[in-house]
Amino acid sequence: APRACVIGWPVRHSRSPMIHGYWLKQYGIAGSYEHAEVPPEGFADFVRGFGREGFVGGNVTIPHKEAGFALVDEADGDAAALGAVNTLWLEDGRLFGANTDGIGFLANLDQGAPDWEGDRGTAVVLGAGGASRAVVRALASRGFGRIAVVNRTADKAEAVAALAGPAGRACGYDELWRWLQSAQVLVNATSLGMVGKGKLDVHLGELPEDAVVNDLVYVPLETGLLAQARAHGNRVVDGLGMLLHQAVPGFERWFGTRPEVTEELRALVA
Ligand code: ATR
Repeated sequence: APRACVIGWPVRHSRSPMIHGYWLKQYGIAGSYEHAEVPPEGFADFVRGFGREGFVGGNVTIPHKEAGFALVDEADGDAAALGAVNTLWLEDGRLFGANTDGIGFLANLDQGAPDWEGDRGTAVVLGAGGASRAVVRALASRGFGRIAVVNRTADKAEAVAALAGPAGRACGYDELWRWLQSAQVLVNATSLGMVGKGKLDVHLGELPEDAVVNDLVYVPLETGLLAQARAHGNRVVDGLGMLLHQAVPGFERWFGTRPEVTEELRALVA
C-alpha cells in the first residue's frame, strides 16, 4: 500500500495526518499517511529514501519548505516563484514539488464566499511572511487591479508586493484605512490573532460592507478580526478551509482520487 507523510521538525502538531487519514478511510483506499519528525540535517537523506521506504510522496512543513524546493527535480510555477514547496511526489523515479498554499487559499474563498472577487479592484493583505507571499501571488493570478501589502516592516512589504507585478502596493498600518475604503477583500496573513500570539489591532470602519474578510489564522476559528468583520456586516471566511484545500492536490497525486472538502471533515479537524 502506498505511504505518504508530513515531514516537519517538530511535526506532532500537524493536522495533515488527520485530514489524509479521513480521506483514506472515506474513499476506502489502502494507504497510509504518517507524521515524520525529521531534523534539518536529516531532511535530504529522508526524502532521497522515499522510494526505498515505499513513500509515494508527502507534505513538507516548517522548517523544510525551502530545503524541499532545493531538492526537487521539478517544481510547479508557484513553488518556483515562492522558492518553497509543501507537497512532494515521485514520478518515474523523479522528485516533483509543488506549493499548493495559493490553490488552497483561492479554493477556500471560492467555497466560503462565492463572488468574493467582486470586480477585482482592490485586495488588501496584512503581513509579508511566507503565507502572505502565496496569497499575494494567488490574488494576482485572479487579476486584482491593486493588491496592497500592509506590513510593520516596510522593506518586507515592498518585496512581497513586487510578487503582484504592477498591481502591487506596499504600505504600513498607518495607511491601512485608506486602502480599506476601496477593498473587496481583506486577508490577515500575519500570525497575529492566533492563540498565544499578540492581537491584531486594526479598525474596519472604512471597509465597505460588501467586502469579504478572510483570516489565515484558524486557532481560534473565529479570530478577533473575523468577529469585528462580522459585527461590521462583512462576509467572513476562516482559515481552516485553506488548510483543508491545500491538502487536496497532494492526496490526488499520491492516492489517485480527488478528495472533497466537506463539512464533516471541517468539523473533525476543527
Ligand atoms: P509566515 O511565514 O507563517 O507567514 P512570518 O514569516 O513569521 O510567518 O511572518 C509573520 C508576519 O506577521 C510578518 O509580516 C510580521 O511582520 P514583520 O514583517 O514586520 O515582522 C507579522 N507580525 C508578527 N508580529 C507582529 C506584530 N506584533 N505586529 C505587526 N506585525 C507582526
